[in-house]
Amino acid sequence: MSKQVLVTGGTGYIGSHTVVELQAAGFRVVIADNLSNSNIEVLDAIQKISGVRPDFENVDLADKLATDSFFDKYPDIDAIIHFAAFKAVGESVQKPLEYYHNNLNSLLNLLGNMLRYNIRNMVFSSSCTVYGQPDKLPVTEQTPRKPAESPYGNTKAICEDILRDFCHANAGFNCIALRYFNPIGAHPSALIGELPLGVPNNLVPFITQTAAGIRNELSIFGDDYATPDGTAIRDYINVVDLSGAHVVAINRLIQDKQKANYEFFNVGTGTGLSVMQLVKSFIAVTGVQLPYKIAPRRAGDIEKIWADTSFANEELGWKASRATEETLLSAWNWEKSVRGIN
Ligand code: UFG
Repeated sequence: MSKQVLVTGGTGYIGSHTVVELQAAGFRVVIADNLSNSNIEVLDAIQKISGVRPDFENVDLADKLATDSFFDKYPDIDAIIHFAAFKAVGESVQKPLEYYHNNLNSLLNLLGNMLRYNIRNMVFSSSCTVYGQPDKLPVTEQTPRKPAESPYGNTKAICEDILRDFCHANAGFNCIALRYFNPIGAHPSALIGELPLGVPNNLVPFITQTAAGIRNELSIFGDDYATPDGTAIRDYINVVDLSGAHVVAINRLIQDKQKANYEFFNVGTGTGLSVMQLVKSFIAVTGVQLPYKIAPRRAGDIEKIWADTSFANEELGWKASRATEETLLSAWNWEKSVRGIN
């Protein structure tokens, strides 16, 4: 019997792409998701891509009783990938208690059930936000974490600490935190992708919605940063590449290849691109009009960050491979398919 992986948040953006990659690698998948920021139709799309419909349960993982009942129903899970979380930085500043409640309790409830059912493996969605604005670039895993700039960022740092302490106390239980840089793009089938509710916070969905005519104009937040063109720099990673890192991490856990029972890795491309470079690249590769203007800096933004990925490349044997142009095109194809544009 193939191994069974629980993917929390599996109908979400990164979750859905990872489900597809797990299925391609021969895993059975069960999704737990409360659909608070995703759509049940994603299951149809996953089935179209892979030919297999994953098991699905509508569960609020911050609810202990509901989470315990879920595990009673699925007692044979081999590993968990925990994506489910609130993720809007600005919203977290307005609603800190909701962020702490949701993001911390869901992890605690999952870890409690790992002990109850002897599920020994977890991959956790962390973020490069734990580095803040680093003093030295690129950031390695040794780069010190900085105090979080937002409650959202703080939940990622606290969850990492919880995992470290959990693994320290429970030999034989294994966790890997993946610190994502900026995931962008969509599956090449254009059947799944990022579908933000309301006005997008993130750059690429705002770009594709503007190109589709849903937004009038893109605002580029700040052109007076200490970067070559003055706009902020990030490490944009293709979501399918990022999903592949999860499959590698799951195999590492299941095959007991870890060097320590709690590990964390940078998952990026190793290359920083400015907002302006990304915008120009989008226009060049798609040939569409993209009205944009320079606007003031966005509160809480850092100036620049990109990853040193050598540890992940060497230790996991994983490397991001898709070019930015291909990735931007996939984001545009997804937007067009959602909006019915030819
Ligand atoms: N940006 C714009 N205009 C927009 C949207 C974004 O200029 O309309 C700029 C931002 O100011 C920033 C860059 O594009 O310089 C990237 O912004 P995103 O919102 O896409 O991504 P962030 O780097 O701010 O945040 C992302 C995730 C967080 C995660 C963080 C880690 O959304 O969850 O990366 O760095 F914590």
